[in-house]
Amino acid sequence: MAAISESSGILTAVSKPLRTNQEGNRPLLHGLWSLEVDISDRSKNIVAASNRPTNSKCIYQCRCIILFLGLALWGCSGQQSALEPSGEEAASVAQLFWAMLGGGAVIWLGLMALLATAIRGKLGPIDNRAATQLVFWGGAVLPSAALVGLLGYALWLMPGLRPFANSGAPQVIIEVTGRQFWWDVIYRLPGGVQFRTANEIVLPVGQRVEFSLKSTDVIHSFWIPSLAGKVDMIPGRTNRLSLVATKEGRFRGPCAEYCGTSHALMAVEVTSLPVQEFALWTERRKQPSPGVFAPGSELFEKHGCGSCHRVEGTSAASRFGPDLSHLGSRNTLGAGILPNTPETISSFIVRPDAIKPGTHMPAFDMLPPDDIRSIAVWLKGLE
Ligand code: CUA
Repeated sequence: MAAISESSGILTAVSKPLRTNQEGNRPLLHGLWSLEVDISDRSKNIVAASNRPTNSKCIYQCRCIILFLGLALWGCSGQQSALEPSGEEAASVAQLFWAMLGGGAVIWLGLMALLATAIRGKLGPIDNRAATQLVFWGGAVLPSAALVGLLGYALWLMPGLRPFANSGAPQVIIEVTGRQFWWDVIYRLPGGVQFRTANEIVLPVGQRVEFSLKSTDVIHSFWIPSLAGKVDMIPGRTNRLSLVATKEGRFRGPCAEYCGTSHALMAVEVTSLPVQEFALWTERRKQPSPGVFAPGSELFEKHGCGSCHRVEGTSAASRFGPDLSHLGSRNTLGAGILPNTPETISSFIVRPDAIKPGTHMPAFDMLPPDDIRSIAVWLKGLE
């Protein structure tokens, strides 16, 4: 039987012959219980094996399983969970997941019951005909029926997951371009109105929104788990995603395709608002922030920040880096990685590469600290 020893902190498997039953020709499967690990005593190389767990071991194992399940389920809630849907499309994805999980659980439990029966040795020998029947029904018919059933169910859900055919014209079109390592966002509203922002998306609850997804450098993937499934952003191509948010809330959308050093530091903040509040938000976004007239704008222009960034209402109009027009009202800084405060803005200006490795923004640690602080306070004031 395999036992596990611990030597110099490294776990190694040590093989021991399997015990046999009275006839001496069949391994006793209940010997599986002898697999155990003891890391408390470094002097012991081979851990003593026992044939069955004692009560205290059972309690320990149960606690481990409960702890593991608790940790696993903990990750299923919150702002970034496909299992806590707040949109029609995410609800279909969650429905499919639970159906597959339920089906898988039934099959697994059936197999475990068969295994337990075999281990207890309660099944006598069976003849060739019965064995062939078992393989035919259990090995061919049952898996085929289960897979065809699941495929049919997924196809039946498909129109809800990719709702273009019968969804009508979307009220809002949002063009999102993945960049290393941020999101360029352009809103196209009815009447030809459009405005630009970055790393934040606001949606109206109950209205259909269509995303037009692009990339200018490498492949990224756009995914707001609470609202819909993921769609890749591929250079030279425009992909579409259509969704309806059904609840108010704040959600997080991680980049779901490895895109470089700071792939894990690239998330988009998504907020869904009632239709009237969404209309107010778009009205504010169409205008320059009142904060542009505060002191600090002259330093922003003097130090050349406008070579990469755009701020509505100033001469800064570059599209190379993120649009900073209403930066102060965003929940986070640096595509979902830092709280948005004058302090974090200052540190980002000084050493952006220390916060987001691989970013195209150069360090500005040569600027006078007072100037950096003034620019950061001015940017935070752009609400
Ligand atoms: Cu962008 Cu990963």
